[in-house]
Amino acid sequence: MVTFNSKGKLWFETLQDPTRASSHDSELQEDHTSLLWKETFKQFVDVKANGPSSIGSDFCFHEFSHVYGLPEHADSLQLRDTRHGEPYRLYNLDVFAYELYSRLGLYGSVPLLVAHKPDRTLGVFWLNASETFVNDDRSPQLKRKRIQPRTDVHWLSESGVIDCVVLLGPSPQQLFSQYAQLTGYQALPPLFALGYHQCRWNYNDEADVKAVDAGFDRHDIPYDVIWLDIEHTDGKRYFTWDSALFPEPASLQHHLEKKRRKLVVINDPHIKTDPDWSLYREARDGGHFVKDREGKIYQGSCWPGNSSYLDFSSPDTRSWYSRCFRLDKYQGSTPSLFVWNDMNEPSVFDGPEQTMPKDAVHYGGWEHRELHNLYGFYQHMATVEGLITRSGGLERPFVLSRSFFAGSQRLGAVWTGDNAASWEYLKISIPMLLSLSVAGIAFCGADVGGFVQDPEPELLVRWYQAAALQPFFRGHSANTTKRREPWLFGEEVTASIRTAIQQRYCLLPYWYTLFHQAHTSGQPPLRLVLLLPPAAQWKHCRPRGALLACPVTDPGVQEIQVLLPGSDEVWYDVHSAEMYKGGKTLSLPVTLDSVPVFQRGGSVVCRSTVSGFCTADLHPDCCPFSLQGVADGELYLDDGHSFSYRDRKAFCLRRFNMLSGRLLCRSAGEEGTFDTDTVIQSVIILGVKGKPSTVVVHVSGEELCLYSCIYSQLDCRN
Ligand code: NOJ
Repeated sequence: MVTFNSKGKLWFETLQDPTRASSHDSELQEDHTSLLWKETFKQFVDVKANGPSSIGSDFCFHEFSHVYGLPEHADSLQLRDTRHGEPYRLYNLDVFAYELYSRLGLYGSVPLLVAHKPDRTLGVFWLNASETFVNDDRSPQLKRKRIQPRTDVHWLSESGVIDCVVLLGPSPQQLFSQYAQLTGYQALPPLFALGYHQCRWNYNDEADVKAVDAGFDRHDIPYDVIWLDIEHTDGKRYFTWDSALFPEPASLQHHLEKKRRKLVVINDPHIKTDPDWSLYREARDGGHFVKDREGKIYQGSCWPGNSSYLDFSSPDTRSWYSRCFRLDKYQGSTPSLFVWNDMNEPSVFDGPEQTMPKDAVHYGGWEHRELHNLYGFYQHMATVEGLITRSGGLERPFVLSRSFFAGSQRLGAVWTGDNAASWEYLKISIPMLLSLSVAGIAFCGADVGGFVQDPEPELLVRWYQAAALQPFFRGHSANTTKRREPWLFGEEVTASIRTAIQQRYCLLPYWYTLFHQAHTSGQPPLRLVLLLPPAAQWKHCRPRGALLACPVTDPGVQEIQVLLPGSDEVWYDVHSAEMYKGGKTLSLPVTLDSVPVFQRGGSVVCRSTVSGFCTADLHPDCCPFSLQGVADGELYLDDGHSFSYRDRKAFCLRRFNMLSGRLLCRSAGEEGTFDTDTVIQSVIILGVKGKPSTVVVHVSGEELCLYSCIYSQLDCRN
C-alpha cells in the first residue's frame, strides 16, 4: 500500500561543527560560508549554527489518487498535484487577509497526510517542526495498460531528524483513532465554549461591553462569551487593563457571570520592552526570553512596539507564564475570564517574513529553525496549564490559539485567522475547517462575517448560518470595519441571524456528544463526506455522521443542489421532515432563512427544544429519530465545566436504540454517575410507514413514560 523511499529521495545532511568547517582551506570555507552556512533574504541574514541540516524522503501510495490533510492552507480540501506548481509549505506565518487557493504557509501546521480510497484509508505523519515542503505527484490510472493510479509524496524539512509514522487505518475511523493515540485526543471543551462568541477589535470600554451584552438579551439572541482584543490592556501589556477604559474589570466579569456568561481576553506572546513594568522585569531576570544568535535577548517589533518574546519551549518559562494567570497575580481577573493567544507564529513585524529569525536561540541552545512550527503550540500549552492550575485543577480551560501544530487539539480551539468579508472567504472556510478536522484539530472555526472589510447583510446572514454548523462559532471584526452586531442591519437580518444562532443552541446536546466522541475516540465532529467516497463511489458511500449540512455560500441563490450520499440511505430534511433517497442530487428552493440540513435515516440526534439565553439554560429534552427500521445514537451529559467527568466519573452516556418497534435507552459502555434532572420530553420518529399502534420505550429496562410521541407519516417519495 505504501512504499518508503520508493523514488530514492531519502536524504539527510549531518550536523557539522562550525569550528571544523572554518578550519577548511580558505576556498572551501568561502564556499561553505556563503552558500551553506549563511543565507540572505532581503535585509535578513540567517547564520546556521549547525550548517545545512535538511532531511527528506518520499512515499508512494499505491492505488491512491485522493489525498487530504496538511493544514493550514487556504485551498481545496483534496490536495492538488504539485508537479506544475508550488509545493505545500508548512511554516507558521502571520498572513493578513491571506491569498486564496494558495499553498503558502499560514498560521499553523499539521504534518499529517491522509490518503483515501473506498476500502482503505492510510496516513503518514511526519513529525517535524521546522520549515517543511510537501510535493504531491499524482499518476493516473491507465486502464488500457493496466496501470493503477498512484500518489508520490515527497517531504522535505529544513532540519531535525526523520521521524515518521505510517497509520494503516484501514477505515477513516480507525485512522482518526490511531492518530489520536499518537498525538492526543481533542480536549473536552467546557459547554459554554460551544455556544456563540461575540468578538471585535475592540469593544471600547466597560459600557460598550455591557451594551452589547444587553443587546443580545433585548434581541433574544443567545450567546455565551464576549471578547476583548488588545486595546483593553494598558499599552499592549498583557495581564493588565487600561484603567480609563476598563477601571472595574472584575465587576464587569461578575456582571456577565450573573447571566452565566464569560469574558475572553487576548494574551499575545510578545512582551513590551519596558523595564518599568514588573512583568517584563520578571521575565527578563528569570531568563524567560528567546535570545538572538549572540546570546542577547532577542528584540522584535509587535503591537506594543519594541518587544521580547517569551521562550515557551522552556518548561521553566511555561510554568512561570502559567503562574501569571493565578487569580491573585492577574489583577482584575476572575474564574470566568478565559484566554485568546494571538500572534503566536510568532508574529514579528520587522522580522523575516514577519516572523522570528531562524537563528534565534531557545532553551537548551536549540535554534528557532528547529522548532518554529511549535512556538504557538507551547504558548497554548502554557496558557492551558495556567487556567487549569488557577482553578486548583478542577475546571476545564478554554483557550483559543491562532498558531498550532499536531497535538494542539489537546489544548483547545483554533481559528483560521485574518479572513475577509467576501463570499470566496466564506466558501473557503469550509474546506479549511474540514482539513483541520482531518488532521485532528477538531475545535476550529473561522471569523464570522470576515475579519477585514464590511460584509453585505446577505453575506453576514449566510456566514452565521454556515458557522452555526461549525465547531468554533465566533463573530469577529477588525478595528477598521463598521460595527456589525447582529441587530444593526434591520429586522429581517436580525431575525435570520437569531434563527441561525438559536438552531445552534438547540443542537448543542448533539455538539457536546460529538465533542465527547472526539475526546474519547478521535472522531472529529465535522466529518467530511468526501473522505469517505471518492466522487465516483459517491452513491455507495456509507456516511458516518447523522447530519449533513449544505450551507449556502453564494449570493442571490434561489435554488441549491445538494448531493445526498449513499444509495442505501434515506435522508430527512430537518426543517420539513421530508424524506429523500440517497445517491442523488437534489434541487432545493432556498430563501434567506434556508440552511439545508438533512438527518440520516437510522440516526438519533438529541436536541433541545428551547435555545435559552446561553448554554447554561440548556436541557436536552427532545430526541428526534429518523428510522430505517433501526436507529441508534448517543447522548453525553456532564456538569459542562469541571473535570469531574474524568476524576469522579460524573457523566451520563446513554445509547438510544430502536429495534423491532422498541426504543431502548441504556448506558453506553462505561457507567458514569452523573445526577441530572434532564428528561426526555418528546420523541419524534420520522419515516414511520402507516400508523403504528404502539411504540414501546425502555429506559434501562424500565418502560419509559413519554410526554408525547409524534409520528411522522411521510411516505418515501422520490
Ligand atoms: C490579529 C488577529 O488575527 C485578529 O483576530 C486580532 O483582532 C488582531 N490580531 C488584533 O489583536
